Amino acid sequence: MLKEEVEEFYDIFSKNYPKLHSSRFVDKIFEYFISRYLPPKEKLIILDAGGGIGRFSFPLAKRAYKIILTDISIGMLNKAKEIADNLGFKNIKFFKESVTNMKNQKNDEFDVVLLMNSILDYCSDHKKALREVFRVLRKYGVVLGTVNNRLIYTTTNILLEKKDVKEFEKAFETGNYPKRFLIHDFTLEELRKELTEAGFKIINILGPTNLLRKWEYEDIVNKENEKDILNSQIKFTQKKEYLNNSSDFFFIAKKS
Ligand SMILES: C[S@@+](CC[C@H](N)C(=O)[O-])C[C@H]1O[C@@H](n2cnc3c(N)ncnc32)[C@H](O)[C@@H]1O
Repeated sequence: MLKEEVEEFYDIFSKNYPKLHSSRFVDKIFEYFISRYLPPKEKLIILDAGGGIGRFSFPLAKRAYKIILTDISIGMLNKAKEIADNLGFKNIKFFKESVTNMKNQKNDEFDVVLLMNSILDYCSDHKKALREVFRVLRKYGVVLGTVNNRLIYTTTNILLEKKDVKEFEKAFETGNYPKRFLIHDFTLEELRKELTEAGFKIINILGPTNLLRKWEYEDIVNKENEKDILNSQIKFTQKKEYLNNSSDFFFIAKKS
């Protein structure tokens, strides 16, 4: 039921998704840190789980031996296929499957799994999803992903929307709240705990959106200041004391 709500939302959203999300500034920050933490191996096998229209994996196509892009939304997958066809990529395969049950993927297959832009928040069971990611990664493979910081998202989505204070407290304590579908947002400690419990060794957790809220960058960044803001954000992303001011956490963890 919940998964179907997400699926339905993204099937509809996919019609405008490329226009709205193809060149977001925040994704450029994320992309910078993906390239920085990719394993040095020459030809990577990459799984872009909940990959949407391939925003992160397609730019890696030249570095990859093979890319698998999965999503639960057929609308997003069709857009992704269209883009891949237009770009002439031959080494990309697509599957409609949930990150909580990656039934088409073998054990110990991938060098890299991407979980970009809140897949763990939206997938309805992040514990199951992390177990699946652990299963499909090779030994020493890395998972790179972002999740919403609960301290910022629940205040924005509930308290600032002037909803009931009790409702806010519940969401602030548990991380769970309904938006367009049920969402679970993370605290830093919880993210650490969940990654560790799933068997991962945490390499780093960064705060890539700690200058502004994620959704504010598009209004502030322009052609003139883009380079400076990017450089500044890259610098502050790595400052541990600013981590909880980031609307998103960027995690890098290894199967060791
Ligand atoms: C915010 S978009 C991010 C897409 C892509 N990772 C990116 O960063 O551009 C979230 C995507 O997750 C997909 N999704 C949500 N729940 C999922 C699940 N349980 N399994 C796989 N994909 C899921 C949605 O259909 C949507 O395409």
